Amino acid sequence: MANILIIYSTNDGHTLEVCKKIQQHLAANNKVELQPVEQPAIRTLDDFDKIIIGAAIRYGTHTQEVFRFIKTHHQMLNAKTNAFFSVSAVARKPNRNTPQSNPYMQRFLKQIDWKPQHLATFAGKINYPIYNLWERLIIQLIMWITKGPTDTSGVYEFTDWEQVARFAREIDQSGVSKAT
Ligand SMILES: Cc1cc2nc3c(=O)[nH]c(=O)nc-3n(C[C@H](O)[C@H](O)[C@H](O)COP(=O)(O)O)c2cc1C
Repeated sequence: MANILIIYSTNDGHTLEVCKKIQQHLAANNKVELQPVEQPAIRTLDDFDKIIIGAAIRYGTHTQEVFRFIKTHHQMLNAKTNAFFSVSAVARKPNRNTPQSNPYMQRFLKQIDWKPQHLATFAGKINYPIYNLWERLIIQLIMWITKGPTDTSGVYEFTDWEQVARFAREIDQSGVSKAT
């Protein structure tokens, strides 16, 4: 039984849905807590054996809070069993759905002072009805360019939930790092 913290950064809520799914998978063998990256820690990271960070992509990047969190806590992250996953629309593409082939993940890893032990890139959700006019137009243009759905009355979930389950199993089966 490990104590696991999942820290998430979301704009439209889908990354939180992915985190909740991971929490469900891990709950049988672990105690799992969720915390938004913006929220000041109620408990210190040291209380946890494993730390997972999940973050959404918007306009080609993760939020500044994600970078700030990693910068502030990279030593503690390195002392724990740790993982990072990214959620984006581009990860729906078969040639962009691994940490190695996903351009946002590759750029992100170069920008941070942390080498996550476990990595994943999940395809997100396009939810046209909740976007404002500008967002809807931008996403529609991106979808048109990348041969995705352009009907703005629709909601399109691209997440491969079996891939999410596999990632959760990988974390479940990973050992617990001893803090230095
Ligand atoms: C305004 C906006 C900008 C986005 N920019 C990108 C992008 O640059 N690249 C990409 O792959 N996905 C992009 N997406 C898709 C999101 O990454 C996807 O919808 C994801 O599921 C959002 O996760 P969230 O609900 O946790 O915020 C964008 C979505 C919106 C609404």
